Amino acid sequence: MAKKESRRSFLELATALIGGILSLAAGIPLIGFAISPAFKKPESKWVDLGLADRLKNSRFKKVDYTFMAKDGWVQATKKRSVYVTDAGNGEWSVFSRTCSHLGCLVRWDAQEESFLCPCHGAIFDKTGAVVAGPPPEPLQKLETKVEAGILYVKET
Ligand code: FES
Repeated sequence: MAKKESRRSFLELATALIGGILSLAAGIPLIGFAISPAFKKPESKWVDLGLADRLKNSRFKKVDYTFMAKDGWVQATKKRSVYVTDAGNGEWSVFSRTCSHLGCLVRWDAQEESFLCPCHGAIFDKTGAVVAGPPPEPLQKLETKVEAGILYVKET
C-alpha cells in the first residue's frame, strides 16, 4: 500500500514538474513578445513640411503638421507645431513649440525676438536657448533636409 502511495506521489510530482517546465517554455517567449515594443527605440522619420520655396525667408513662421508614429503597439496620428526660420542662405532652423519645462506650447514674439511660454513665464532666445524661467533645456531644434524642393524635418 505504501509503495502504491509513493508511486502516486512521484507521478503527481513528475506531472507538476513537466507542466511547470512546459508553461515556462511557452510563457517566456509570449511575455517577451508582449513587452518587447516597450524597449524598442522609437523610429525616426522624415516628415514633409512643404515646399522650401514657399517657406524661404521665413522668420519664425508657425507650421502645423501631422504624421504617423508607432508607440509600442499603438500606431497613431500625432500633431506637431514648429517654428521655421530661414536665414536666406538655405540654412534652415526648425524649433519645436513644446516647452522643455512641462510641455506647454511656446509662441514667437517678433517684438521681443524671443519664444515665450505662457505657463511659467519661460523665455527662450532666437537660438532656442533658455533666457529666463524654469526650463532645464533649450527648445528642441529638429534636424532638417531639403530634397526635390521639399523641406523635411526629422521626427522621432
Ligand atoms: S511649461 Fe513652459 S515654463 Fe513651464
